[in-house]
Amino acid sequence: MGFTNVTWEVVEGVATLTIDRPKQLNALDAATLGEIGTGIELCKSRPEEVLALVITGAGEKAFVAGADIAAMSKLGVAEAREFAALGHRTMSALEALPIVTIAAVNGFALGGGCELALACDLVYASEKARFGQPEVNLGLVPGFGGTQRLTRRVGPMRAKELILSGELVGAAQAREMGLVLEVLPPEQLLAHAQAKARIIASRGPQAVALSKKLIQHGADLPLGQALDFERNSFAGLFGGAESKEGMAAFLEKRPARFPGR
Ligand code: CAA
Repeated sequence: MGFTNVTWEVVEGVATLTIDRPKQLNALDAATLGEIGTGIELCKSRPEEVLALVITGAGEKAFVAGADIAAMSKLGVAEAREFAALGHRTMSALEALPIVTIAAVNGFALGGGCELALACDLVYASEKARFGQPEVNLGLVPGFGGTQRLTRRVGPMRAKELILSGELVGAAQAREMGLVLEVLPPEQLLAHAQAKARIIASRGPQAVALSKKLIQHGADLPLGQALDFERNSFAGLFGGAESKEGMAAFLEKRPARFPGR
């Protein structure tokens, strides 16, 4: 598949993409962002094979310790704009996938690593995980969506505390602020994320994709328009085979066999 900085494995419909640059604590350079992009494209081009995506980091220490500082230190203004644009494209493409995406945060999730987790639908963390946006220590601001997605996830005051102080928080504190759903012992983390991915992958794929879209797009719309979007989406599904099968299966007291699954 041409992967160098990540590994890619699909088991029972669940793809696991592991950022694999342990010597750099899995930091994201342009090549690694490109490979994450390739994984995202594989999810899109193989909808019958890849039903859910889990992202994690290789090794014990880091999920992703941020953008690659050694690579960034060489950039000028125009190149930095391009690098941020690549980061934004990658995170937005991840967020827009029609399947569920889950971050299994096994260690440091700093800067671009925290931003990668924020672009996933669900975030589970190991007890060893630490989160932060330490860019101010480098004289920088978050550049892969952190000022916006972190604020939307935890609210402006907590986002300001994290981003302006550059301080790190542990997994329990991250859970308290809504950055993490559940904290697990390190050895259970990946299996937990993959099990949740399998559950969601077994549900009606159109209903899952549309639910995700409604939640994401609805948040940016006035309530009335968001409710119109929900009503039209709900009604539209009645014209398709998926809801017919789902409701028939319930009434016939048997498991659903969704088209495309
Ligand atoms: N980029 C490049 N290399 C990194 C890195 C990064 N973000 N983070 C760690 N590394 C490298 C270190 O340079 C070191 O390499 P060498 O062994 O060759 O010296 C190796 O990984 C191990 O790191 P440390 O020796 O620093 O390990 P530690 O246990 O003492 O500290 C740490 C761990 C607290 C995570 C520390 O490495 C650290 O603070 N890393 C930087 C975190 C950071 O600032 N992230 C934000 C980056 S900016 C960004 O992400 C912008 C954006 O929004 C797009």
